[in-house]
Amino acid sequence: MQHAGPPGKLIAFEGLDGSGQTTQAKLLTLWLDQRAGMKAHYTKEPTSGPIGTIIKRALLQPDHTKTAPELSYNPATLALLFAADRLDHLEREILPLLRRGTCVISDRYTISSLAYQSLELDPKWVRSINRYALSPDLTIFLNVPLKTCLDRIRNRHPQPELYENPATLQRVEHRYRQIIRALQRQRYRIEIVDGTPPPAEVHRAVVEATKKFFRKRRARPREDEDQIAALLKTPPLNPEEIRVHLAAG
Ligand SMILES: Nc1ncnc2c1ncn2[C@@H]1O[C@H](COP(=O)(O)OP(=O)(O)OP(=O)(O)O)[C@@H](O)[C@H]1O
Ligand SMILES: [Mg+2]
Repeated sequence: MQHAGPPGKLIAFEGLDGSGQTTQAKLLTLWLDQRAGMKAHYTKEPTSGPIGTIIKRALLQPDHTKTAPELSYNPATLALLFAADRLDHLEREILPLLRRGTCVISDRYTISSLAYQSLELDPKWVRSINRYALSPDLTIFLNVPLKTCLDRIRNRHPQPELYENPATLQRVEHRYRQIIRALQRQRYRIEIVDGTPPPAEVHRAVVEATKKFFRKRRARPREDEDQIAALLKTPPLNPEEIRVHLAAG
């Protein structure tokens, strides 16, 4: 993986299914863009582009041992599709925004591939097919116990997707722990946030983790000092603002 160079920052959210990534990625985008004076854009993986659309069809088929009419969704094919979708996502959407100075908040990114697709494949191979994906400037991992995630998933939709079963997610949880430990040893910028409290409380912790990242960047000569100073003074969205935002979908 290469290191991010463009002026905009890439922030990735990671976690188990149901850990609250979509909720928190959208709230952080709103806070950055409408409160903290940074241009920010929410995006997610798999994308809604041509490759992501194929992936989503595969995920909707929980029994992936059955060959779908248009494609055999074996684990290696799926891993290659995720890696290709990510590179396409970067070229089409993420990099042009970063070059213009917009922060991009990605709801899942490379670590998801390492956690999910390497369950049935050699992790080194999964890493290598993601080698050309730009490293995020900051990754926020939402830490939520598996049981809580499963309860949230069940409440959200009765029809489980490919990875949404307790046995698989238990293995994913274990993989995430291994990956995070390895990344922390490599000084990869990853923040672990407790995702179990109510959304407003998790948002406060996410904003704190984001401020910690920007605080460290103030020492860098190319950064806009005033913009970062304003961001550091901006309070998180309050619970009522969050309630309204979540109710609006
Ligand atoms: N902090 C929270 N406390 C309680 N429920 C939450 C919290 N955050 C999100 N939820 C609810 O849990 C469900 C899953 O949240 P969300 O869709 O944000 O998770 P996700 O990590 O994006 O899941 P997936 O990986 O499956 O897309 C939703 O119904 C959401 O409203
Ligand atoms: Mg989601």
